[in-house]
Amino acid sequence: MKTTTENTFKAQFARDVDLGLSSEPKFLPSRYFYDAKGDKLFQQIMRMPEYYLTDCEYEIFDRQKADILRAIYNGQKFNLVELGAGDGYKTKLLLDHFLQNEVDFEYVPVDISKDVLQELKGSLQKQFPALKVSPLNYEYFEALERLNDLDKAPKVILFLGSNIGNFTPERARTFFDKLNTTIQKGDLLLCGIDLKKDPRTILAAYNDPTGITKAFNLNLLTRINRELGGNFKVENFNHYPTYDPFSGEARSYVMSTVDQEVYIEALDKSFRFTHSEPIHTEISRKYSLAEIEKLAQNSGFEWLHHFTDSKGYFVDTLWKK
Ligand code: AVI
Repeated sequence: MKTTTENTFKAQFARDVDLGLSSEPKFLPSRYFYDAKGDKLFQQIMRMPEYYLTDCEYEIFDRQKADILRAIYNGQKFNLVELGAGDGYKTKLLLDHFLQNEVDFEYVPVDISKDVLQELKGSLQKQFPALKVSPLNYEYFEALERLNDLDKAPKVILFLGSNIGNFTPERARTFFDKLNTTIQKGDLLLCGIDLKKDPRTILAAYNDPTGITKAFNLNLLTRINRELGGNFKVENFNHYPTYDPFSGEARSYVMSTVDQEVYIEALDKSFRFTHSEPIHTEISRKYSLAEIEKLAQNSGFEWLHHFTDSKGYFVDTLWKK
């Protein structure tokens, strides 16, 4: 028997697929990349030599953890709230440093996946027995509202990995506006954002020769087949990444390589794809430091500091409400 949550998720997934494949041009939301197989493929992407983002943010935390601590801590207890915590690979560098310096803080990982939180809590307890961990299994804003009610300690919010890049500029703006109204005055945000740079470097990160990013995109079709009863022939689709240096948008498309029709049982509907017709699957937007400062200001934050890596590829930008 499926739970109500699973049924609601499936219904939403079906609606989003219907909307995207009925649109002109077609699209599919990238948040559906992340099923069990997609999570594994993303782990592989993060280990690819071309995908510099993870190494850059790791380097920032590794080399500048003492500066980060000085910038966020005044001796008063705070909650370190991570939105979309994942496996905590980079965050552990900060946690370790904070614990060694006897910082008074609690770590509050937020994720909509219970499994992710359970696994993370287990690995943190093993590695850092003294760490206080209070996971919140909610959507980001619901978690922040609950935390406001539970604990009045100031918050330092982490939103890492350039996840903001997967939002359109309008959605990014709405996200920061809403974040600003949900948190308290004086709360801080440390946001990891991939920067505009040589277009070749960026494109290569989304166009690896081993085909992992291709598999990551095509897995979305496999997921529709499995969860919504689709009959996509995945071999009749290819992956096509682009980068536009004006907008800073890396975009991924899945292209039909033949004229074809695909039936999706959950929608009881067929969709036609012409030869070379693209389905837009993902946007990974890159920003300049000036754009980031403007974004902070426009959504009611004070920009405090940019922590950048030694190549100047990536920034963890610190904002204050
Ligand atoms: C999760 N997100 C920040 C990744 C990105 O770079 O946009 C997802 C990804 N897509 C392809 N490669 C990695």
